[in-house]
Amino acid sequence: MASAQEGQSGRDASGPEVTALLSEQHREFRRSFAELRAMREPLARRDALERLSCQLSKHEAAEAMAVYPVVAHLASGPELRARALADERQTARLLANCLRKSFWRPRSRGLRRLLCQLQAVLDEHVSYEEEMIFPVLRLGEEERKRQMMGTWMENAESIGPTRPHPHGPQRLPGLIALLPVLAVLDRLRDAARRRVETPPKMRS
Ligand SMILES: [Fe+2]
Ligand SMILES: [Fe+2]
Repeated sequence: MASAQEGQSGRDASGPEVTALLSEQHREFRRSFAELRAMREPLARRDALERLSCQLSKHEAAEAMAVYPVVAHLASGPELRARALADERQTARLLANCLRKSFWRPRSRGLRRLLCQLQAVLDEHVSYEEEMIFPVLRLGEEERKRQMMGTWMENAESIGPTRPHPHGPQRLPGLIALLPVLAVLDRLRDAARRRVETPPKMRS
């Protein structure tokens, strides 16, 4: 009988199957975004957007490190990767705008419009990956390799940037050189932000 863990993300001792892992994360993004859009309290919505932004930024950077370099070697891979990276650039740009607006104008109509745009772009992007890229990956790479990719993906996420970088690198050489720097800078900014928001007597 399969263990409870094997039921998640096609995971067994060899690691999570990468397309199952990514699809599970996509479902989570869609669910979190729907919840966020339903929120009426601007500051709660801003916090939810920051959490989503952190997960999404790690996800996209890890895909660029662990998934697209493999996809690029498969049939039609270069075109599939180019379209996905263009989507991700657009998503990162919109996400950065939403974060900026949610900080400075959390009650504005402009923010609601931007969130609506971001949700549509993200929805189309994850559908593109699931319908166009994952089937090619499942056909072109054996399961063992896809499980290794799932493990690479999780490792890359654990050290990835926590904020969108619309002008950051998207290909391997640039990612290897710059991603660790961006990730450290993001974590420093996150820590500074938490410090500003935590009342002095609650700080340890
Ligand atoms: Fe993606
Ligand atoms: Fe994805």
